[in-house]
Amino acid sequence: MKKLFLIIGAPGSGKTTDASVVAKQNSDISHYSTGDMLRDEVAKGTPLGLEIDAYISKGLIVPIDIAIDTITKAIKNAPTSTIILDGYPRSLEQLNGLDEFLKTETSIELKSVIEIVVSEETAKERVLGRNRGKDDQEEVFNNRMNLYIEPLEQIQSFYKSKNLLYKIDGEMSIDEVSIALKNHIDTFFKYNQPKKESNMLSYDSLKSILFKLNPEVAHKMAECFLRVPPFCQAGSSFFLDSHFIADETLTQELFGKTFLNPVGLGAGFDKNATMIRGIQALGFGYTEIGTLTLKPQEGNPKPRLFRHIEEKSLQNAMGFNNDGLYKIEKRLKKIYPYTTPIGVNIGKNKATEPHEAIKEYLTLIKTLHTLADYLVINISSPNTPGLRDLQNEEFIEELFSSSKEITTKPILLKIAPDMSEENAINLSKLAVESGASGIIATNTTLDYSLVSNPQSIGGISGAVLKDKSFAIFDAIADELYGKTTLISVGGIDSAKEAYRRIKAGASLVQIYTALIYEGFNIARDINKELVELIKADGFTNIKEAIGANRG
Ligand SMILES: Cc1cc2nc3c(=O)[nH]c(=O)nc-3n(C[C@H](O)[C@H](O)[C@H](O)COP(=O)(O)O)c2cc1C
Repeated sequence: MKKLFLIIGAPGSGKTTDASVVAKQNSDISHYSTGDMLRDEVAKGTPLGLEIDAYISKGLIVPIDIAIDTITKAIKNAPTSTIILDGYPRSLEQLNGLDEFLKTETSIELKSVIEIVVSEETAKERVLGRNRGKDDQEEVFNNRMNLYIEPLEQIQSFYKSKNLLYKIDGEMSIDEVSIALKNHIDTFFKYNQPKKESNMLSYDSLKSILFKLNPEVAHKMAECFLRVPPFCQAGSSFFLDSHFIADETLTQELFGKTFLNPVGLGAGFDKNATMIRGIQALGFGYTEIGTLTLKPQEGNPKPRLFRHIEEKSLQNAMGFNNDGLYKIEKRLKKIYPYTTPIGVNIGKNKATEPHEAIKEYLTLIKTLHTLADYLVINISSPNTPGLRDLQNEEFIEELFSSSKEITTKPILLKIAPDMSEENAINLSKLAVESGASGIIATNTTLDYSLVSNPQSIGGISGAVLKDKSFAIFDAIADELYGKTTLISVGGIDSAKEAYRRIKAGASLVQIYTALIYEGFNIARDINKELVELIKADGFTNIKEAIGANRG
């Protein structure tokens, strides 16, 4: 089946250039520009009728049936199975025409409508820059812009309701936009291949080896593979094909980004942003990297990570071991823009005095906000002395209101499960009132009564945290669902549990410990079953299920 990607955007948004760069780099993709095709029609002497933006200045007009006919013939006869069509449709009439044609006469599937978003100012600058010296360009631009803006809202809502709309920030350089475009197309091109079952590796046998190793050594080994060194490239593609579930039922727009599925990897697994590609290959719809701090630090003395195997739980006292802001910033720059959303979780260095903490968080935000799809303030880790003391009203109010002066990127607060529900609600409410874009609940717990043989240091995660984490999440959702974005984490190990959190109000979920106990199929398995659970409830998309139990 052929896959079609439509690109829309204001005049000057660079869609033709970006799309042709992508098509040139990949012989499997055909690219058509409506401008070029209609220009050919005009050259052939086709009678004129419908206004097409490129011709408005010269008064040239092409009839709608010819426009649709030309375009549909081109995509039907495209030599490859992936087609990018740029600049179409321009009106609701064209849009319905194309939709109808695709459904009734072809086996072409419209996979995504990609809007390259630029401000009117940028669009004007680009168009006028290109045509400098020519007369009446301002008028030409205004005419073209009006033709774009007029049907835009209808086009957006038409495709949004079908979950097909995807936005790319067109203010980036052409290179960056074309990378983002290519990444998005690759996502569907690769991930939507028929899924092969991966029985090649059984996690049980691997686990029996890994669990004989010290937990931190086992983590390092996993990191070696998930860094996707050259000898693992083929393996990574295999996992990507078989593990990444990109199903319309699970796709949602959040924080201005498209989340193809709601299952993310929680902070602390990829502290240094070295495994982003590998984590994606395991099927996670997004990743939260960090916690990272301003200066690099070693973390607490080892041993600092322990298993409670019977209880499918972990206890960690890592203490924000990480490479530090500037090294990680460089790493992120190399891979930006990302294929799937990346959250960046930030914390303070151990040696930083509490009164210096605000300054440090603001420096981290200033440096990272352009590289993060969302940021997370971590003041809930139990392993940095004094950190949880920052979970107070004064700090939260000052931090979030100052952050708003730096960036419009979403900044979320991650909270601990070890406070009363009342405190958790009050702090979360205050954070949101002060500018936070969401709450992540929860971090690890200091409730050592949950395991039979606790260590004396660190926070506990995994199965034993499930109910405690849910209870705090549920209490917060009771107050804040519908008013902010909620992410649930803590003890999630199955689709059923993930769905419980979603119906309680979580837009996204995260897992960490279950990856260690259940293995590398977990994101795929949860996502697959989530599709079933959502459909069984009569919903067509996850958005309808989020908060469905809140009444
Ligand atoms: C070894 C380990 C390291 C962690 N490091 C961080 C961290 O650096 N920052 C953070 O916000 N959470 C960290 N967490 C907490 C997780 O992100 C998550 O909130 C918690 O483990 C509960 O989820 P789970 O039960 O699915 O593991 C860490 C958890 C573990 C097990």
